[in-house]
Amino acid sequence: MAVPRSEYLSNVWKEGIFDNKVVFCTGGGGTICSAQVRALVHLGANACIIGRNVEKTENMAKSIATAREGAKVIGIGAVDVRKLDDLEGAVERCVKELGTIDYVIAGAAGNFLAPIAGLSSNAFRSVLEIDTLGSYNTLKATLPHLIASAAKNPNTGTNASTGGRIIFLSATFHYTGMPLQAHAAAAKAGVDALSATAAIEFGPRGITSNVITPGPIAGTEGMERLGNRDDESQGTAFKRVPLQRYGTVKEIADGTVYLFSDAGNYVTGEVLVIDGASWRSPSSL
Ligand code: HXC
Repeated sequence: MAVPRSEYLSNVWKEGIFDNKVVFCTGGGGTICSAQVRALVHLGANACIIGRNVEKTENMAKSIATAREGAKVIGIGAVDVRKLDDLEGAVERCVKELGTIDYVIAGAAGNFLAPIAGLSSNAFRSVLEIDTLGSYNTLKATLPHLIASAAKNPNTGTNASTGGRIIFLSATFHYTGMPLQAHAAAAKAGVDALSATAAIEFGPRGITSNVITPGPIAGTEGMERLGNRDDESQGTAFKRVPLQRYGTVKEIADGTVYLFSDAGNYVTGEVLVIDGASWRSPSSL
């Protein structure tokens, strides 16, 4: 059954703004990334989503395809973003079946709660490799297509047709430091640095590179894995957020549409934090 638009996209965006565009997304089987891709597909794009779990990824692709009649959405499972070869194979299949890649979302991540003293070196490395190396591999594997798409859709500031854009998913843990999150904080700091550097290196070719940082978003795997405080089980944890509520996946999808649309032409090297001011309020973390 199709997910209602109101769950993944605000009604301010025009239908068809991503007609003939293709998005490539790692971690696309997850709650946040699937909403981002669903929004882009609804607005005209075709998509290729990448994951480790074959069944989950293929089923999500089928579900996302219901966002628009005629949409093509491919799910490619058994891809480990730590392996460049895996990603290059997925990119090849995406381009063969969908023709191009205009937008990339590097969303694959791994996380768990553990104190520094309780982490093995291998555990720390696993998260760094999934988040930071995986983001790098995603950029590296898609780069020729991002360059080609940016050349086809020059970023002059007056064009409605965009291309050659990447968004990395990150976190706010490293702004302040966060207990039990040394591995993820270190990994996401690297992701932010990678995105900023890509913005500078590839800006002259018209590519934009930005980070979206979701805060506490209702119904996500991240919240399930990381939220284990007493007030959470009592249903009052949202009161720690300055805006007094959790975010929604729709709000992350809206930010994505903004950055990929011509409304975001001059935004690059930036971090868009969508967290209801949570990280600015120490008591909310
Ligand atoms: C301590 C742990 C651990 C835990 C795993 N490890 N879980 N150490 N506490 N809770 C250790 C293992 O013991 C092992 O170290 C090492 O990590 C690697 O584990 P493996 O299972 O062998 O590796 P792998 O299969 O690659 O698993 C990667 C993983 C896993 C990240 C560790 O949790 C995973 O695959 N997660 C699925 C994806 C995921 O986490 N998604 C959530 C994203 S949410 P040793 O030394 O024993 O070999 C997110 C947060 C967003 O990113 C935040 C928003 C607010």
